[in-house]
Amino acid sequence: MTGTDLEQPGGGCASVVGLQWGDEGKGKIVDLLAGDFDAVVRYNGGANAGHSVNVGTERYALHLVPSGILYPGRFAIIGNGVVVDPEQLIKEIDGLQSRGVDTSGLVISSRAHVVTPLHKEEDAHREQTLTSGVAFTSANGDADARAGTAIGTTKRGIGPCYAEKAQRAGALRMGDLLKPDVIRERVSISAALRGIDLSSFDTDSIVDMLSSCGRRLGSMIKDTTYLLHALLNDRQRVLFEGGNATLLDVDHGTFPFVTSSNASALGIGPGTGVPPQRIDRIVGVMKSYCTRVGSGPMPTELHDDTAHRIRERGREYGTTTGRPRRVGWLDLVALRYSVMVNGVTEIALTMLDVLSGHDDIMVCTHYMLDGQKMDRFLPDSSDLARAEPVYERLAGFSEDISGIRHREQLPIAAQRFLETIETHAGVPITIASVGPGRSETITA
Ligand code: GDP
Ligand code: IMO
Ligand code: MG
Repeated sequence: MTGTDLEQPGGGCASVVGLQWGDEGKGKIVDLLAGDFDAVVRYNGGANAGHSVNVGTERYALHLVPSGILYPGRFAIIGNGVVVDPEQLIKEIDGLQSRGVDTSGLVISSRAHVVTPLHKEEDAHREQTLTSGVAFTSANGDADARAGTAIGTTKRGIGPCYAEKAQRAGALRMGDLLKPDVIRERVSISAALRGIDLSSFDTDSIVDMLSSCGRRLGSMIKDTTYLLHALLNDRQRVLFEGGNATLLDVDHGTFPFVTSSNASALGIGPGTGVPPQRIDRIVGVMKSYCTRVGSGPMPTELHDDTAHRIRERGREYGTTTGRPRRVGWLDLVALRYSVMVNGVTEIALTMLDVLSGHDDIMVCTHYMLDGQKMDRFLPDSSDLARAEPVYERLAGFSEDISGIRHREQLPIAAQRFLETIETHAGVPITIASVGPGRSETITA
């Protein structure tokens, strides 16, 4: 796949979005495409995202910094819809600079909200309370059910920060970090609203820490909405990088086991100030199977040797938390839903190499729910938890395909697998990834 046509109505903007429960390989695909763009923009989520990019022998794990940063001289923009933990961001910038990466293109929206230590504490506390089942009654009252209500968050303070944004009074934005008085006022309000006794609360150290972050990041904090529109008016090409993924979207995902932002491509407008008609290409990234970290239903989940083999071969351990990822066969019902919700125009399929070595490859084409065959995805977790997957069996392949660069050279069974996905999705696979490296890629 090569450059984007500037004559297209939106001016050649594209987005990369995860179609499953995260970790589809968005970092790799953004890095692959970013060379054709002038700016890469994150629009949602925060340090809960972990995007790995392999360049040569170097491996980078990015959480807040857009994956386009590895192309010097391009803009890497953190949009207003992102929630920024400024200490974590500084650590990430320092880590990149110490490895010789040019971070001069990094720009942070003055309207992105700040994750404070209070948000991280609250995130951990809520998860702990849900896990122990203290102080509330579950629907059926049993202890196991109560433990099952924890979301399994990354404990990066994401939910509490977005909640504070919605509640407004104690919320702090990146532009406020340049104003110590505002920081003090908002942190005090935020603490008071949490019922914290301010006389025993060390406001000073939080204000000092955030002010010092503000001094360090100050020159990068700008109005990114005007910046983006100036770039677009100048016919520059912008690539939007989704954090998290569609099935974790707070409105369209498997609620309540989701993150707290619009992690589908639908989040681009509110998260950047760029209207949807500007975007021509929506590249949906999907794995050749499913994974999920944290709690919540996953109809095709496996607990057998196949899961173990996929987990080890695909190194399915979280980039952010190191947790082993839950593994299951590809869910085409979920895929059809994600393609529909995002308006996906093309698919980037990753981890095809990981599927090698299975006699059969199973794909879920439908669900059974209460004796009825279902074509539709069930975004409500309590419904999805009752769905039984109905599988189609496809032939497997055993060759090492990591050296293949042309689709027609793939084993026939792998080609049939790609065709099955295209038939269900109704859009073409334009990128198939056969390894983590930039070059381990088949393009249409
Ligand atoms: P993201 O959050 O969507 O960016 O994905 P992560 O980086 O969290 O997880 C994807 C993992 O798979 C990373 O370790 C990538 O280096 C790796 N990866 C990406 N594409 C491929 C592929 O086609 N094959 C293999 N074996 N690994 C891949
Ligand atoms: P990337 O961008 C995988 C999951 C968490 C948890 C739920 C809520 O790397 O694909 P949160 O901390 O956001 O409140 O957690 O969402 N989650 C992710 N899972 N990849 C991600 O990001 C995720 N971001 C959030 O595991 O189940
Ligand atoms: Mg990830």
